[in-house]
Amino acid sequence: MQTPFMNMTFCVRTFGCQMNKHDSERISGMLEGLGGLMVETVEEADILVYMTCCVREAADTRLYGQVASLKNVPLRDDSPLKKRIIAVGGCIGQRDGEELTKKLPHLDVVFGTHNLASLPRLLQGVIEEGGHQVEVLDASTSFPTELPTAREHSWAAWLPITIGCNNFCTYCIVPYVRGREKSRPIEDIVAEAERYVAAGVKEITLLGQNVNSYGRDLYGSPRFAQILDALDQTGIERLRFATSHPKDLSDEVIAKFGKLRSLMPALHLPAQSGSDAVLKAMNRRYTSAHYLQLIDKLRDACPDIALSTDIIVGFPGETEQDFEDTARLVDTVGYHQVFTFIYSKREGTPAAKMVDNTPHEVIQQRFDRLVDIVQKHAYEKNQLDLGRTVPVLVEGTSKRDNLLIAGKSPKNQTVHAPLPEGVSADALEGSIVNVKVDEAKTWYLSGTIVDNG
Ligand code: 5AD
Ligand code: SF4
Repeated sequence: MQTPFMNMTFCVRTFGCQMNKHDSERISGMLEGLGGLMVETVEEADILVYMTCCVREAADTRLYGQVASLKNVPLRDDSPLKKRIIAVGGCIGQRDGEELTKKLPHLDVVFGTHNLASLPRLLQGVIEEGGHQVEVLDASTSFPTELPTAREHSWAAWLPITIGCNNFCTYCIVPYVRGREKSRPIEDIVAEAERYVAAGVKEITLLGQNVNSYGRDLYGSPRFAQILDALDQTGIERLRFATSHPKDLSDEVIAKFGKLRSLMPALHLPAQSGSDAVLKAMNRRYTSAHYLQLIDKLRDACPDIALSTDIIVGFPGETEQDFEDTARLVDTVGYHQVFTFIYSKREGTPAAKMVDNTPHEVIQQRFDRLVDIVQKHAYEKNQLDLGRTVPVLVEGTSKRDNLLIAGKSPKNQTVHAPLPEGVSADALEGSIVNVKVDEAKTWYLSGTIVDNG
């Protein structure tokens, strides 16, 4: 088959969340299917695709910096093109559309979150006709799962079960760039999971902005607990999901922890704040008391569960007392991991119109105080695994030392262990080995492989 992408190299650069990483895998799958060759570096790439994020300002700024600096990167000598093709998709593409080509005139293609499948056609347009190709749609017509996927790892798969979000938290741009929540039929999800299990995938992570409301649009009421049951039945070794909204986390779902064989004892449950006034202003629709009740229930169901969360510091109008309520919540729960963010104003969201006059230094100090609490708990939580033997899904070698394997425990902790003599890291990648933990730090555990699972 002759396609315009034969002998062309492409590179996909991804910013932002797992949904974007997954979308990137679909783009790679499509371009490979059309004869393109995936490469790792910008220098080698004839076609460069940026999958962008606009959830905070920092990611926006980074995209502009990166695209601007490309002007100085020459095209490889044997490229079939005269000029490198640069495409921007994902959330910034969706938000800015045509506007982007004005700010970045050497951009060739802009596409959005609803039309990944159009990318080859848009690229082809540039190859054949030159000029810009911009296409941004208002909503998805179908769930984009018919597209092929080139997964980053053969042993792990992301599996989207919903796209979009109906929650409109007042700080968040996501509902505006990803559209309304759309669930994918159960049969499709199970069929895709079964294909992964047959292909030797060890871990599936179900994806959605709010997986707990899965099914509401299709079936009238949430069916997330049924998805967990059905996925467990496929025989997958490890099952995870992200993200959960506390207002929709049901007792039925909580009860699955500690019960379903494959469901890993780890949950990411974004609190965002511990102040009821701030939660209300954020339109989160739960109180800190409700959140803490969920934590109690989760620990009743699964005492060893590892909890992680997202916290925003410096939401408009956050008082010292509000911040202290947040710090207390974080201290009370004792998370394994907390992703802390300084509030970033996003034009078009309701919070962007709220009075926001807390000095940056005050917010930075609050942020630093919070990070101290987070680190103290992360360290203490990891100590609980000292001396235990944990099954580790090997992801490769440590970035700092290629004689150390690096992988993930059931609780999603990073675990390092020396490679056994005579065994290559490649041979272990994607397998589960038992590691006896003899050191526990704030951000990782290390130990010795006691058997190869
Ligand atoms: N400013 C700072 N953090 C934000 N998040 C989402 N929107 C913003 C914003 N405007 C954080 C939330 C969310 C995570 C993915 O990003 O904590 O859970
Ligand atoms: Fe954004 Fe809230 Fe939807 Fe999460 S639940 S994507 S924070 S609007």
